[in-house]
Amino acid sequence: MANRNFNAQTLTAEALRRIAKAPDARAREVVGSLIRHLHGFVREVKPTQEEWFQGIQFLTETGKWCDDKRQEWILFSDTTGVSMLVDFLNYGRVGNATESTVLGPFFVEGAPEMRMGDNIARPGTPGEPCAVSGTVRDMQGRPIEGAVLDVWEAQGDGFYDVQKPGEHNARARFRTGADGKYWFRCVKPSSYPVPHDGPVGRVLTATGRHPMRPGHLHFKISAPGFDTLVTHIFVKGDPYLASDAVFGVKQSLIVDFKKAKSGGYECRYDFVLKPEGLRKPAARKKTAAKKKKTRARKAG
Ligand code: BEZ
Ligand code: FE
Repeated sequence: MANRNFNAQTLTAEALRRIAKAPDARAREVVGSLIRHLHGFVREVKPTQEEWFQGIQFLTETGKWCDDKRQEWILFSDTTGVSMLVDFLNYGRVGNATESTVLGPFFVEGAPEMRMGDNIARPGTPGEPCAVSGTVRDMQGRPIEGAVLDVWEAQGDGFYDVQKPGEHNARARFRTGADGKYWFRCVKPSSYPVPHDGPVGRVLTATGRHPMRPGHLHFKISAPGFDTLVTHIFVKGDPYLASDAVFGVKQSLIVDFKKAKSGGYECRYDFVLKPEGLRKPAARKKTAAKKKKTRARKAG
């Protein structure tokens, strides 16, 4: 009969033994890793029963904060660096293609389509006027016609339109012509805090962290035959570039927002899309090598 007197040492092996015949290999790998890491976490932290229950309450409360306007779990993933880790492992840098970063919770499907040169910020929107322009090209430098750019930003008061009553503002869609060029007006992006009035905010406070993101403009760019690019451009010189609450800053995405002669600000950024399905080659090779090593170890 199998041993039922498990202890802190043998319990992990038993939990793993019970999933050893899981029909789906990926489920076995994912759940197995979760068990190993969770048990390791508990061994390291040695929570009291009260602390363990506090943890359960935190997870419960985080779920309760989620609805169609607020996703506290994504915020937890973002502020712990997990979202960017997933981004690094999946995308990484491929040739001269523009780097990606977090989508964030404020993207809205179906933003109004505007004409090049339009202002995405309605009259009276807080913030300083800004003109943004550039091109969308492929990795060989050819302009991409028909690329759809979704653009969105926080207003000068630090809030997105979805955080206050009212319709779409400071977000729009643009479609490139044959020259691949885009240009529009907006307000200069300013730094703002991620939502921190919930359980994730309490974790930030308890761990001595601020909730601020450096000023940025969001882009989601899609075109047939290319991977959709989710990225931001960040304002050079912003005091929060080195301590972004969600770890989203990449050097290549920092842009000079210059004072324009005509007043306000202007900036230029050229995007490069990668062909559909092209992945970071190093990550694939590493995984294959790792698998080979594991197979060799198992074989004895
Ligand atoms: C944002 O940039 O909109 C954002 C990203 C992650 C968490 C919260 C906000
Ligand atoms: Fe944002």
